[in-house]
Amino acid sequence: MTDTATLETIRWDKGDLIIIDQTLLPNEFKEITLATSERVWEAIKALRVRGAPAIGVCAAFGVLVGTREKKPQGLEETLSAVDATAEYLATSRPTAVNLFWALDRMKRVAHEAANGGTAESLVARLEVEALEILREDTELCRAIGRHGAPIIGDGQGVLTHCNAGGLATASYGTALAVMYTAHENGTNFEVFADETRPLLQGARLTAWELARAGIDCTLICDNTAAQVMREGRINVVVVGADRIAANGDAANKIGTYNVALIAKAHNIPFYVAAPLSTFDLAVLSGEDIPIEQRDPKEVTHGFGVQTAPEGVSVYSPAFDVTPNELIAGLVTEVGILRPPFTENIAATFASRTA
Ligand code: MRU
Repeated sequence: MTDTATLETIRWDKGDLIIIDQTLLPNEFKEITLATSERVWEAIKALRVRGAPAIGVCAAFGVLVGTREKKPQGLEETLSAVDATAEYLATSRPTAVNLFWALDRMKRVAHEAANGGTAESLVARLEVEALEILREDTELCRAIGRHGAPIIGDGQGVLTHCNAGGLATASYGTALAVMYTAHENGTNFEVFADETRPLLQGARLTAWELARAGIDCTLICDNTAAQVMREGRINVVVVGADRIAANGDAANKIGTYNVALIAKAHNIPFYVAAPLSTFDLAVLSGEDIPIEQRDPKEVTHGFGVQTAPEGVSVYSPAFDVTPNELIAGLVTEVGILRPPFTENIAATFASRTA
C-alpha cells in the first residue's frame, strides 16, 4: 500500500470540517478548519479544495456546517437552513457535477428525515450521510484503481494532465488511482505530468503526490506533451473528469482536449477515469456542460508575479470538453466503459436502477 492511502484531503474531526489547503502545496502542508458556509464556499472557489469528487465531499459536510451555523429553531427552520445552504454552496463552481450531486443527495436525505423526525434527528442524519459520501468516495477510487490498473503495462510511459489524485478526491484519486494500483501490483512505469497552466495542479499537486507514493514522475510543460509522444515515451494517457455527458464527452481541466488530440495523432489510447457520480445523464453532449471562467489575474499575475502587460485581454476557461471519439475508455468503479458510449453508459445506469 502506498503512502497515498494516508492522505486525508477532507476529514470530519468531532464536528469540525478540516481540509488540506491545496493552494499552499507543495511548499507548505497545512490543514485548515472550515467553520462556516462562507469559508466552505471560499475554499471551493479559491481551489483550496478542488477536483470534482473532493468538491462534492466537502460540499456535503458544508451543508451540515451551514445548517448548524444558522442555529435554526425547530424542524421547519432546520429544513430551510439545509436548502438555503445547499443553494448557496451550489454557486461556488459550475462545472464539476459532483458538487450538485452531493448537494442534491444531502437535501434529499434531509427531506426524508424531516418526515416524522425532529430537528436533532435531521442534523444527525446529515452527518451520517456526509460521512457515508466520504467513505464511499474512497471505496470507489479503490475500485477505479483495480479496474484501470491493467491499462498500464510494464515499462510503459503514462501521461496525465492536472491532478486527479488523492487530493482531488477524499483520498486515492481517479486517474492517479489507476497508477497507484498498478504500482502496488508491481508494474514499473514512468509518469509524465503536465504542469497544467495556469494554476499548476500538475506541478504543484500531481508531482508532489507521485513523489510521496514513490512513483517515477517527470514534470513537463504543457506544450512539451506532443514532443514526448513523438519520442515514443508515452504509451497511454489517463486523466480525470469534472462532468461526463450521456454520450461520453468529458469535461476536464483546460488543456485536456489538446492532449486527447495529440494522443490520437500518435495512436496513443486516451482514458478518462471517474466515478459514476461524475456522469450527468441530463446533459446529452459536451456542448451543454457549463464551463467555469476564471479570474484573468490567474493568467496575468500567476502566484503573485505579473507576467503580462497591465490591462491585456484574457480568456481563461477552467475546463474544456474532450469529444467521445477521442476517448478509448471511461474507467469507473464498475469497470471500463467502451464505445459506443451512449449505449454503454445508458446500460450501466439502467442496470444500477433495475
Ligand atoms: O480546477 P480543478 O483543479 O478543480 O480541476 C480539477 C480537474 O480538472 C480534475 O482533473 C478533475 O476534477 C478530476 S478529479 C478526480
